[in-house]
Amino acid sequence: MSDVPEITPEAVDDAVAAALAAIADATTTADLKAARSAHTAEGSPLAKLNARLRDVAPERKAEFGKLIGQARGRVNQALAAREDALAAAETAARLEAERVDITALAQRARVGARHPISLLREEIADIFVGMGWEIAEGPELEHEWFNFDALNFDEDHPARQMQDTFFVDPVARHLVMRTHTSPVQVRSMLERDLPIYVLCPGRVYRTDEFDATHLPVFTQFEGLVVDKGITMAHLKGTLDHAARVLFGPEAKTRFRANYFPFTEPSAELDLWHPTFKGGARWIEWGGCGMVNPNVLRAAGIDPEEYSGFAFGMGIERTLMFRSDVQDMRDMAEGDVRFSEQFGMVV
Ligand code: DAH
Repeated sequence: MSDVPEITPEAVDDAVAAALAAIADATTTADLKAARSAHTAEGSPLAKLNARLRDVAPERKAEFGKLIGQARGRVNQALAAREDALAAAETAARLEAERVDITALAQRARVGARHPISLLREEIADIFVGMGWEIAEGPELEHEWFNFDALNFDEDHPARQMQDTFFVDPVARHLVMRTHTSPVQVRSMLERDLPIYVLCPGRVYRTDEFDATHLPVFTQFEGLVVDKGITMAHLKGTLDHAARVLFGPEAKTRFRANYFPFTEPSAELDLWHPTFKGGARWIEWGGCGMVNPNVLRAAGIDPEEYSGFAFGMGIERTLMFRSDVQDMRDMAEGDVRFSEQFGMVV
């Protein structure tokens, strides 16, 4: 075996010198791995010298064994030292690359998103302002008289019951969290000069469950017109216009006979939604009708001289079928990721 060297101190020194040079030259952990396998693994000069030990005369075995043992010890030590040095250098380089200037001013203010209910409420208000209407507001904590009596609700109308309405203690003060925006009709008639063209958007309260299609606190928009010669045709034309602006040129509305204490006649309002996710269809949108003469009288308006129409819809419901929202609770939970999907319209 001519390629197998004799064990001599020179041969051992040469093998060690070659190994140390390769270790010193390694500038990455990958280089070092290659040097380790070239100079210590099977087939390396040192391993071959080690293999020759078995041919050495017994009386010299200890001497050569020690020589090779020391040589391997030096090479392993150099490998370990170089490994530490390279690891430290690589850590330092990574720290440098990931360095953060903690004295720099942080970008702390995250730009949020406006809530889609606020956006839709403004969009609806714009439709009516565009027709010359005014925006009217009223209190959310309302007197029972405005919420029910003036709107021609009977003394024992079921809506007045505690299981539908939040009454405020003590009940004898007759204060309720308004159950609809209709009391703003009465306030507008009492506060404003005739004729009246108002849109009343606002928050309302009912003792409803909190589930995919109900919120105990939600938003409505109420419309009220009181003028001379107002007919149901004006109501229909106004609602068709609003439907087209919100749902496209093919949208329209239809009325189905219904009862509300504050309108006569009253109608359930359906919307033809041409771009509904599951295909064009009629959807229940709200209620409407001609203002009941009793309501006009309660506000001091002569029903012989004036007539009016009114309507009321839920904004959450409108958003649900307009933007295909499956669960109304998403509108109440305030997660910015929900709002962001509606874009940053201001
Ligand atoms: N206030 C009714 C409700 O909350 C909705 C409504 C129906 C409003 C008919 C109106 C109307 O102005 O004319 O269920």
